[in-house]
Amino acid sequence: MGQGPVANTEQREYWNEVSGPKWVAVADWIESQLSGIGRLALEASGAKPGERVLDVGCGNGFTAIELAQRVGETGRVFGLDLSRPMLKDAAARAQAAGVPRIHFLEGDAQTERLDPSYFDLVFSRFGVMFFDDPAAAFRNLHDSMKPGGRFLFACWRDRSLNPWMTVPALAAAEYVEIPPPAAAQAPGPFAFADADRVTALLSSAGFVDVNARSIEPGVRIGAGRERQQALDFILQMGPAGAALRNAQADEGLLERVKRAVEERLEPYWDGDGFVMDAAAWLYSGRTPIADSEGGQNG
Ligand SMILES: C[S@@+](CC[C@H](N)C(=O)[O-])C[C@H]1O[C@@H](n2cnc3c(N)ncnc32)[C@H](O)[C@@H]1O
Repeated sequence: MGQGPVANTEQREYWNEVSGPKWVAVADWIESQLSGIGRLALEASGAKPGERVLDVGCGNGFTAIELAQRVGETGRVFGLDLSRPMLKDAAARAQAAGVPRIHFLEGDAQTERLDPSYFDLVFSRFGVMFFDDPAAAFRNLHDSMKPGGRFLFACWRDRSLNPWMTVPALAAAEYVEIPPPAAAQAPGPFAFADADRVTALLSSAGFVDVNARSIEPGVRIGAGRERQQALDFILQMGPAGAALRNAQADEGLLERVKRAVEERLEPYWDGDGFVMDAAAWLYSGRTPIADSEGGQNG
């Protein structure tokens, strides 16, 4: 496996310079927020002992570790990501979890030259919505899978169904300019919210039995932590976090933003975290077993 032409330059920079170091610093917080969705995705993936698995956009390595535990000694897990700080964190975490055999690769899923017909399963939890050319990325991943190989990934549904992201941002927006939401299909957390578009992309890339299943597991932010700690975490993340970083210069403004976010989140605190609705898609598909199954690409 090797590196093809460079693409996704903006995302590479973002996940190496801006977001990656932040995700490493608050890895455990993010994991406690995402682990419920991760569990549903891992169950749906059907990872089995002996299988070869690719975790796309593996980030801090949490799902790669669970996949390694599922495929066991006879299986192989590769974690692919373009963020060096997150891969370093992932490798240390795998070592500590007793699964040092995971292969963490620095590369872009869109262009990385992966061994053809190699993987039984390609998996991702929120690591595939950042492609600037999703059709190319899906084709690349398709070609790395064995006939009958499974593709299973989780992506956020529309932002209107994900108040955990929008409520803090709207509160901050009363006082500071928050970054405008990316265009509907631009790389970002909600790029794959449109299930018709994504399932069509998967079919065009050659996948069959393509499906989108909605899950609405909700998120609990800050379980087992003090309320103020949980608020501080929320205030670092997403559009509200970006707005706050821009407001750093003005202490008074910063305090007003913090208070607005705190007030808006008040109703969601249940004594053990902020409990908020969240909705995601579990997308799935597989590569054809025989030519007669006729993926449009394969
Ligand atoms: C939202 S984070 C999710 C991380 C991890 N899967 C998790 O659930 O904790 C998105 C991850 O995708 C990675 N990523 C973004 N674009 C990528 C690409 N083109 N190829 C590989 N990884 C990519 C980022 O570096 C980041 O680690």
